[in-house]
Amino acid sequence: MSQDQTTNQSWGGRFSEPVDAFVARFTASVDFDKRLYKHDIQGSIAHATMLAKVGVLSDSERDSIIDGLRAIQGEIEAGQFDWRVDLEDVHMNIEARLTERVGITGKKLHTGRSRNDQVATDIRLWLREEIDIIVAELERLQRGLLQQAEQHAEVIMPGFTHLQTAQPVTFGHHLLAWFEMLCRDRERLLDCRKRVNRMPLGSAALAGTTYPIDRQLTCELLGFDAVSGNSLDGVSDRDFAIEFCAAAALAMMHLSRFSEELVLWTSAQFNFIELPDRFCTGSSIMPQKKNPDVPELVRGKSGRVYGHLMGLLTLMKSQPLAYNKDNQEDKEPLFDAADTLRDSLRAFADMIPAIRPRVDVMREAARRGFSTATDLADYLVRKGLPFRDCHEIVGHAVKYGVDSGKDLAEMSLDELRRFSDQIGQDVFEVLTLEGSVNARDHIGGTAPAQVRAAVQRGRELLGDS
Ligand code: ARG
Repeated sequence: MSQDQTTNQSWGGRFSEPVDAFVARFTASVDFDKRLYKHDIQGSIAHATMLAKVGVLSDSERDSIIDGLRAIQGEIEAGQFDWRVDLEDVHMNIEARLTERVGITGKKLHTGRSRNDQVATDIRLWLREEIDIIVAELERLQRGLLQQAEQHAEVIMPGFTHLQTAQPVTFGHHLLAWFEMLCRDRERLLDCRKRVNRMPLGSAALAGTTYPIDRQLTCELLGFDAVSGNSLDGVSDRDFAIEFCAAAALAMMHLSRFSEELVLWTSAQFNFIELPDRFCTGSSIMPQKKNPDVPELVRGKSGRVYGHLMGLLTLMKSQPLAYNKDNQEDKEPLFDAADTLRDSLRAFADMIPAIRPRVDVMREAARRGFSTATDLADYLVRKGLPFRDCHEIVGHAVKYGVDSGKDLAEMSLDELRRFSDQIGQDVFEVLTLEGSVNARDHIGGTAPAQVRAAVQRGRELLGDS
């Protein structure tokens, strides 16, 4: 039959009737994969350059292909490109337009290549760039945390276990816990990038190609670290995308925990920090409300990234070698996971430098909850008592404090000595909040001196000092 509108000109040769209009729409990916246009063109330019180098294309054919592709990129970026669903995906849309622009030479671009290795290459190029953007946002957030931690190295707040007041910590130390989590997220992303940055191009449809291609050249032109070692694997696996989603899911989990604390801390009940108005919204019915929408949304968005991870794992499960159309379903989850993580990090990187601790409120909360009870027990251990007995003694003192409405540091020496005659005047040094935090003076401890040292290490890690 003759080629017509509904028979795809790229593969319609062996078909005797046009594809059903709904099936054409159902199988098309252009609505979402047009996002890969820049990387598709980048890959095609490298491929054409290589084909000319090995003598498959003439230099003038190469040049007209490259000029045509650059012009198409211009059309796309100017919003003048007519994306056609009947051309299925970004690859065939661009190739068809190339042939429209440069004539028959455009049809030579696909020599020695398949959409299977083309798309696998495009996604890797795209994801590599996204990882770099995401890591930059993550580092911006880390810098904000370091700056806040340094500024508030001495600010005392209650540390919690079970969300019950446990021991005093410094606000700087608490913020640096977030910094540490982000360090691991960064490591994971950079490690994942190594496996993203391998080039499947040259795998062709599945078995490689009969043309004398120079994969090493394309690899260098595209900035990949290495070529993939097996063509069947190269076109089919999406483990790198799954790995990225796993790293993204963990990072979102961290941001979600972080969000939860910001939500708690901005509540009237905690009132630990002030979040500037520009990160909050009001209520249409309750005039007094100022809601921490940004952290709430980030907390909520973590769920979709977990979902994408599970979706991609399930997408790949049981797929026989090599490429299957299932793989077209890799893009939307991957795109959304990257967008969600990038935007969440961006929101946090903007927001964190702007939070202000309510120093007095934090301090009062730390003072109220018997947070130095462990310090009193440690004091008694230093006087020679076994820790278990000390624990018991302090437990009685706390009970007395609860009944009489006094914190440990508010009791007189006589009152304290009712629980142990080992207690002397020097006890009051250990019962102060400053005494408590300063005593935890080792790597990873909450003492202000340790917070400053950790800030310094963090700056070195980020290459800032
Ligand atoms: N749009 C396709 C995808 O995203 C491109 C590869 C199509 N290959 C094929 N043999 N149908 O996976």
